Amino acid sequence: MDLNELKEKCEQCRACPLWETRKNLVFGAGNQNADILFVGEAPGETEDETGVPFVGRAGKLFDKYLEAVGIKRDDVYIANMLKCRPPKNRDPQPSEQDACIGFLREQTRLISPKMIVCLGRISAMRIISPDFKITRDHGIFHERKGVILTAVYHPSLLLRDPRRKDEMLADMLKIKAKADELSGGGN
Ligand code: URA
Repeated sequence: MDLNELKEKCEQCRACPLWETRKNLVFGAGNQNADILFVGEAPGETEDETGVPFVGRAGKLFDKYLEAVGIKRDDVYIANMLKCRPPKNRDPQPSEQDACIGFLREQTRLISPKMIVCLGRISAMRIISPDFKITRDHGIFHERKGVILTAVYHPSLLLRDPRRKDEMLADMLKIKAKADELSGGGN
């Protein structure tokens, strides 16, 4: 199976009720051979309208960090834990996460990234550790089965709390340096 086939399967998914209220599936976007896979939480309104992850206000802020540290959006892959928008942007429920996580696992297997960067606590708690505390643990590198795992603040948190922006920049610079190291040199 390739990513396009997986996306078709995802379009048909009825494992939780969110397909009923979504406008578009937000499967993920980017380089299918990316070294870095960023994983957000769930699509928001603009993502639901467009079918593309991280294109609303939070996404635009995230783009600024990518640009500031010299990571091209076209070089990475961006996905969410949930592929359908939860109504009114509420937190994804555990049952919805359980229903959807298999798609992220399969995406990860197909892309085979060297590093997975969780955007925010929801994906970090699911992917890195259930007791992950974003204010305490952001920017720390873990390794699992040869893949580096880390998490940064969710960009929408930075919109609410701009005092965290310096820490975010520092984390993103570390991620860029680590990615260069993993790909065997910088540029
Ligand atoms: N927030 C997310 O977690 N994902 C998106 O795609 C947009 C906003």
